[in-house]
Amino acid sequence: MNVLVVGGGGREHAICWKLRQSPNVTQLYCAPGNGGIAGLAQCVPIKATDVEGIVRWAKENAMDFVMVAPDDPLALGMVDALEAAGIPAFGPRKNAAIIEASKAFSKELMKKYNIPTAKYETFTDLEKALAYLDAQGAPIVVKADGLALGKGVVVAQTAEEAKNAVREMMEDKKFGESGSTVVIEECMTGPEVTVLAFCDGEHLATMPSSQDHKRAFDGNQGPNTGGMGAFAPSPNYTPEIAAECMEKIFLPTVAALKAEGRPFRGVIYFGLMLTPQGPRVVEYNARFGDPETQAVLSLLDSDLLEIFQACVQGTLDQVDIEWADGAACCLVLASGGYPASYQSGYPITGLEQAGEKAVVFHAGTKRQEDGRMVTAGGRVLGVTAVGDTLEQAVAASYEAAKSIQFEHMHYRTDIGRDGACACRNA
Ligand code: AMP
Ligand code: GLY
Repeated sequence: MNVLVVGGGGREHAICWKLRQSPNVTQLYCAPGNGGIAGLAQCVPIKATDVEGIVRWAKENAMDFVMVAPDDPLALGMVDALEAAGIPAFGPRKNAAIIEASKAFSKELMKKYNIPTAKYETFTDLEKALAYLDAQGAPIVVKADGLALGKGVVVAQTAEEAKNAVREMMEDKKFGESGSTVVIEECMTGPEVTVLAFCDGEHLATMPSSQDHKRAFDGNQGPNTGGMGAFAPSPNYTPEIAAECMEKIFLPTVAALKAEGRPFRGVIYFGLMLTPQGPRVVEYNARFGDPETQAVLSLLDSDLLEIFQACVQGTLDQVDIEWADGAACCLVLASGGYPASYQSGYPITGLEQAGEKAVVFHAGTKRQEDGRMVTAGGRVLGVTAVGDTLEQAVAASYEAAKSIQFEHMHYRTDIGRDGACACRNA
């Protein structure tokens, strides 16, 4: 089969790496891909958000199956457009991708279907939002309604900080139209766990749990990033908690979306907080997480294409999905300065040596015409290793990363280690 993956980060590298292991994938393409993905798939220079361009290319080049990984093309309706062109596509349609694209929508959905989440109010009027903050006090959480590259959330420790966040979103339009509606939420406490689940509109199959490290520096200090590392499974996610989540969160979410006429086919990302009152939804995403996917898919023993196809066909309940025992860790090597400004174009050395000990997923890299691999983004690489235990997986990732060098390389030294995943906001 001719298969196209849309996207070009570390997550898409992990998806391509896994799809390459499928005997049914004869030709693999990735748009736009990156320097590392180019070793596994033919990269197609079309932007992931170019719906028309992707559909036209997929038609002209006889794609049999398309996997859409990032949030923005899903929110733009790329899967709907591919289906309309007669091409089977993995990922939620626009009307289901809204669970990520609109926080106001997903909060309403949870309220209507009694799915546990933080208490909240939605505002489109600045004065009302400010008055509400005065009444509630701090700590409190302010969120821009729409997609804001993961940066539209402020966990405010004081009412003043919360008010400034609301003003920036509603008055200064810091996130453009994404901030014209804001959601103000109760601040929850507890460890955060990610659970990704394959979904075919009706059935759901969860993957091993994982944890992401969002802050730039050790000890969860510094600004929020797209993720500085991840590991799977999470020791915090016990079988009892998993059973509770399945009953109170996962199955009700899939049923709710179906009942609303928005059946979800693709991967649902459940961002959970394990609060003293039980697990609560922090957020839904309509896609695989990055860098959680790099860790989680490293544990998948089954054929990923078969699972994707079953999701599209509504036959997920007939597929046996096998996961390896043990654990996986993805350590992100980033450009110094990320998530603020950073320089790109630095040559990367040691990739081959590192590749002997771990799988090195590329996030922001480019192969130059002279064949040298150079940095081309904030998050550059995700060094991913598996082990019998989390400690072994973590040690193996760090050991492999020692071989890699580029100018101004930055990484956290506490991914998957004690204390790195301590309760947030506690
Ligand atoms: P989100 O983009 O909604 O996942 O929020 C980003 C981060 O903000 C989350 O991963 C949490 O660490 C934090 N956060 C979001 N909502 C809450 C909440 N209601 N209480 C405490 N922390 C939150
Ligand atoms: N790792 C967080 C996300 O993918 O949204």
